[in-house]
Amino acid sequence: MERGAYVFRAAGGCSCHTDVKNDGAFMAGGRPIATPFGTIYSTNITPDPKTGIGAWSDADFLRAMTLGVGPSGEQYFPVFPYTSFTRMTRQDVLDLKAYIFSITPVEQANRTPELQAPFGWRFGVRMWKWLYFQPGTLQPDPGQSPQWNRGSYLAQALGHCGECHTPRNLMGGLQKGRRHAGAVDGPDGELAPNITPDADTGIGSWSPADLVWFLQLGLKPDGDDTQGLMSELIETGYSHLSESDLEAIAVYIQSLPAIHNEVVPPEN
Ligand code: HEC
Repeated sequence: MERGAYVFRAAGGCSCHTDVKNDGAFMAGGRPIATPFGTIYSTNITPDPKTGIGAWSDADFLRAMTLGVGPSGEQYFPVFPYTSFTRMTRQDVLDLKAYIFSITPVEQANRTPELQAPFGWRFGVRMWKWLYFQPGTLQPDPGQSPQWNRGSYLAQALGHCGECHTPRNLMGGLQKGRRHAGAVDGPDGELAPNITPDADTGIGSWSPADLVWFLQLGLKPDGDDTQGLMSELIETGYSHLSESDLEAIAVYIQSLPAIHNEVVPPEN
């Protein structure tokens, strides 16, 4: 359970599952998440057996997290970043379940997503997965240092930085050639900046210490503070990681290929 609490934080504190704006209960879901395809509501992941995930077995939880399939065989929309969580080790997934099952159960029914056809069709997800989803635990790169590999695991499998910071194509698939190069329409319509080490358009001017500081406090080197989802992820999640883990994330992120991509907000 204790290890699971750490995994939970490394994953960004599963912030999307708490409807912060409406004072929703911790992890009880119901938070609207606007996507280009319509609005999806996060689900109740408290251990309530009726409306949450309290009745799930270990196998159910593993299948949801690593294959994006629910206990009754339903296909999850990839707003739930199982595309990243599939990289987790089996042990981390099970520890996370132990932690989640220790939080207060809340009875609150899930809301149906409001999606535009054809994106509202769950069977379409099967095809989407065939195109954009490669399940499997992240394998360490023997050519890199243990610190780099730890950072890669933390950023890719747990922290799922790329789910927001990588632009998506019209089908909602991540654009592979532009990993972490920033997205105008990130989750909930928020602009997620370019975090590759490009000097002009990314965070090339940040030192590793700047990035660690940012993930601890949400403060950028120019003194600005971060807003929205990123600040929630930091507060409930990343800021609780050990300094050496945050340093590992910084080493990994700063080793990414620099991509020149100016992310400008659309004019209102
Ligand atoms: C749920 C979506 C989401 C995830 C996951 C996420 N970010 Fe962010 N991030 C954002 C958004 C949105 C912003 C812009 C916040 C703002 O405008 O203040 C941001 C801002 C940033 C910035 C500031 C960049 C700048 O130029 O101002 C950095 C650095 C950053 N994120 C790094 C990370 C890292 C590293 C991870 C993974 C460990 C991560 N983010 C995971 C959404 C996300």
